[in-house]
Amino acid sequence: MALRAKADVWLARPWQCQHRMRALGTTAAPATKALQPFEAIPLYSRNKWLKMIQILREQGQENLHLEMHQAFQELGPIFRYSIGRTQVVSVMMPEDAEKLHQVESMHPYRMHLEPWVAHREQRGLRRGVFLLNGPEWRFNRLRLNPNVLSPKAVQKFVPMVDMVARDFLEALKKKVFQNARGSLTMDVQQSLFNYSIEASNFILFGERLGLLGHDLSPGNLKFIHALHSMFKTTTQLMFLPRSLTHWTSSRVWKEHFESWDIIFEYASRCIWKVHQELRLGNPQTYSGIVAELISQGALPLDAIRANSIELTAGSVDTTTSPLLMTLFELARNPDIQRALRQESLAAEASIAANPQRAMSDLPLLRAALKETLRLYPVGGFLERILRSDLVLQNYHVPAGVLKSFQVETLRQEDVQMVYRFVLMPTSSPLLTFRPVS
Ligand code: HEM
Repeated sequence: MALRAKADVWLARPWQCQHRMRALGTTAAPATKALQPFEAIPLYSRNKWLKMIQILREQGQENLHLEMHQAFQELGPIFRYSIGRTQVVSVMMPEDAEKLHQVESMHPYRMHLEPWVAHREQRGLRRGVFLLNGPEWRFNRLRLNPNVLSPKAVQKFVPMVDMVARDFLEALKKKVFQNARGSLTMDVQQSLFNYSIEASNFILFGERLGLLGHDLSPGNLKFIHALHSMFKTTTQLMFLPRSLTHWTSSRVWKEHFESWDIIFEYASRCIWKVHQELRLGNPQTYSGIVAELISQGALPLDAIRANSIELTAGSVDTTTSPLLMTLFELARNPDIQRALRQESLAAEASIAANPQRAMSDLPLLRAALKETLRLYPVGGFLERILRSDLVLQNYHVPAGVLKSFQVETLRQEDVQMVYRFVLMPTSSPLLTFRPVS
C-alpha cells in the first residue's frame, strides 16, 4: 500500500478502460484522459492530530479497512495521502496491482514493520524474509523456498499437520462427550489459536508444545503469553512514528521488546536442541523445516532462527481467523456444511492412507476456504515502495513513493471485523459442536 512513488509514461491506460473499471462502485468523478501529474491524484485528507489522538485512544487503528473502503468509495480507484514525509498512494484495481507487480524487480521493496525492526536493531539480531528487502531478502527467500513452499516440502510436512489436526478433533470430541447434553457451546477462537501454534511449531521444530492437552510446561506457557503480547503491542505501536510513541507509550515498547526477547529465547532453545540431536545422530526420517535447513547448511543458524520466528508469527492469526470464519459461515449455511461432510466422508479412506491427498481430494473444502478468504480477507493490503516511475489510473506516480461434528450457531447477523495486524472478528461468535449421528 505504501508507495514512495516516480513513473513511466508508457503505461498510460485508455480512457474507455478506466470508464469500465468504475463499475466496481465508486461515487468519485472519472479521471480525465490526458496524463495527470502526481499532485492531481485525489488527496485523502484527514486531520493528522485528530487521527493520532484516535489511534492512541483506540490503541491501534481498528477500523482501517472500513476507512480505506470509504476513501475508495469517495475518491475513486486511486488516492494519495502522506505519513510524515512519505507519500502513500492507494490503489484497488487488479490491473494496477498487476502493473506494480510488473515493474517490481527481482528485489521487491516494502515498508518496514517498525516495532519489529526496532527490536532487531536494538538487540543486534538478524531479520528474516518478512523484514528484509533487496538482495538479502532474495538470498534468504531462495534458501527457504525448497524447504517451506515447494510441493516436495509440503508433501513432507502435511502428515505432521494432519497429526495435530487429528489431536485437535480428539480433544474437542472429548469435551463434547464430557458434557451431559452431548454438545459443546464455546468461543472457539482461543482453541484455534492453540491449534495453529501447535501445528506450526511441530512442522518447524519437530516438537509438540502440548497446547491441545494439559501437559504445557511453564516455559512453553511463557512463550505463548509472549506471542499474544507481541501481537497486541504490535498493533498499538505500528501506526504512529516511533519518535512519538517513544514518549507516549514507553510501557508498551518495553512490553513489546520483552515479548520478542522471550520469543527469541524460545526459538534459540528449540534450534539448539535440533542442532544437538542432528550432531549426535543422522536421523533418516523427516523431522521438520528447521532440521532440514540446519542439516543442509542452507543458512547461518541466526538466519534460520530469524526466519523460523517470522514463520511462527506469520502462521498464527492468518490460520486462526479464516478457520473461525469458515466454521461460522458453515454454521450459518447447514446445506454447504452437509455437502462438505459428504465430501470428506467420501475422501476419508484415501486421505487416511495418504494425507497429501487432502490437497487434491477435497475441492469443495478448498473452495469454502477460498470463499472465506474472499469474504473475510485476513491480509487487508499489500505494500510496495516504487523503485521507478509508473503510471497508475493515468496519473504519474514517481519512484520512491476443517468430520464427525456438526457446527451450529444461533447468530445469523454478520460479524464485524477489525484490523489488528490481520483482519479479525471484533467478537468471536459462539459456536455449538454436536456429534452427527
Ligand atoms: C490466509 C493466510 C495468509 C495471508 C492472507 C497472508 C498474507 C501475506 C501477505 C500479504 C504478505 C506480504 C507479501 C508481500 O509483501 O509480497 C505475506 C508475507 C509473509 N507471510 Fe503470509 N499470509 C498468510 C499465511 C501465512 C502463513 C500460514 C505463514 C507461515 C507459515 C506466513 C508467513 C509469511 C512470511 C514469512 C511472509 C514474508 C515473505 C517474504 O517476504 O518473502 N503467512 N503474507
